[in-house]
Amino acid sequence: MDNFFSIRTVTWEGDAVRMIDQTALPAKLTYVRYTRPEQVADAIRTMVVRGAPAIGVAAAMGLALAAVRSKATRTADFMRDMEASASLLRGTRPTAVNLFWGIDRVLSRAASASTVREAKDAVSTEVKAMEDEDVEVNKKLGKEGADLIGNGDTVLTQCNAGALATVGYGTALGVVRAAVEQGKLVKVLVPETRPALQGARLTAFELVRDRIACTLISDTAVGHMMSQGRVDCVIVGADRITRDGYVFNKIGTYQEAVLAKRHGIPFYPAAPRSTFDLGRTHDGVTIEERGAEEVVEVRGRRVAPRGIPVANPAFDVTPPELVTAIITDRGLVKPPFSESIPRLIA
Ligand code: MRU
Repeated sequence: MDNFFSIRTVTWEGDAVRMIDQTALPAKLTYVRYTRPEQVADAIRTMVVRGAPAIGVAAAMGLALAAVRSKATRTADFMRDMEASASLLRGTRPTAVNLFWGIDRVLSRAASASTVREAKDAVSTEVKAMEDEDVEVNKKLGKEGADLIGNGDTVLTQCNAGALATVGYGTALGVVRAAVEQGKLVKVLVPETRPALQGARLTAFELVRDRIACTLISDTAVGHMMSQGRVDCVIVGADRITRDGYVFNKIGTYQEAVLAKRHGIPFYPAAPRSTFDLGRTHDGVTIEERGAEEVVEVRGRRVAPRGIPVANPAFDVTPPELVTAIITDRGLVKPPFSESIPRLIA
């Protein structure tokens, strides 16, 4: 179905990166255009672009801007310019491994060239390929997971793991889209996802636009909906899956997984290969702590008393025993994950 959210979240224009400004959604669908790596770093930090695969590609393109703009004539100087921008981009958000994957991929492409001219061309070609690949991989992943959704099922998700969190099509919502493309009736239960409201603003925007049946709920309604038999399966995205099968995703995912276990509901993270971190186990991952204003305010309006201490972890960790299977572009990864992840993904 070509009418599914087919616009691209992030695109490479050769000397600029164009992206949807996700902070303006759902009120306005507007684009921003950046020509400097510092602007892209800011956009990632402030969540103009967000979602693990989208920030991976955006960071890669931010680095490609450094390549395009470099005045170096010797490859050693050129690589120094690249390293400086890579370090800036690496410092934007710590949890999604795709960010580091995107940066490393561009750096190694640049390093394999023998002249500066060649490196600039290679990097530009590489980021355009990454953009296209992301959509292809998500469509593949969607097909791999679609059979897990039955006709008439209600799928609970978390955050936004849709087209807006990727270059296009989405991971968790890609599975939903693929099931709908198979002709199934699918309904999505969308938790609002406090504090940044990616569910209420972004997932709801995509699903309403695509005319996929959906219902918005408060985050606090998840357990009740499950206890009433109103959830058939949970499908979420992931920011990082370590080699021991721990799933890092938007805050609130862990409680969905615990509740799903309690109610005998299958729990599936959906993620491309770039989200797997084979070099790390769960204890080596930094969970991003974001600003207090996100919690004490609701869309710019203060709701909590001044002086209240705030904790604002942006992600949580779901242990492997709560995960039924992981949907990837290479098929389903099943427990025991410490054996199946390295085998399928390596
Ligand atoms: O803070 P965000 O909006 O970048 O967090 C996004 C998520 O947690 C998504 O679920 C995850 O990146 C998977 S996106 C396909």
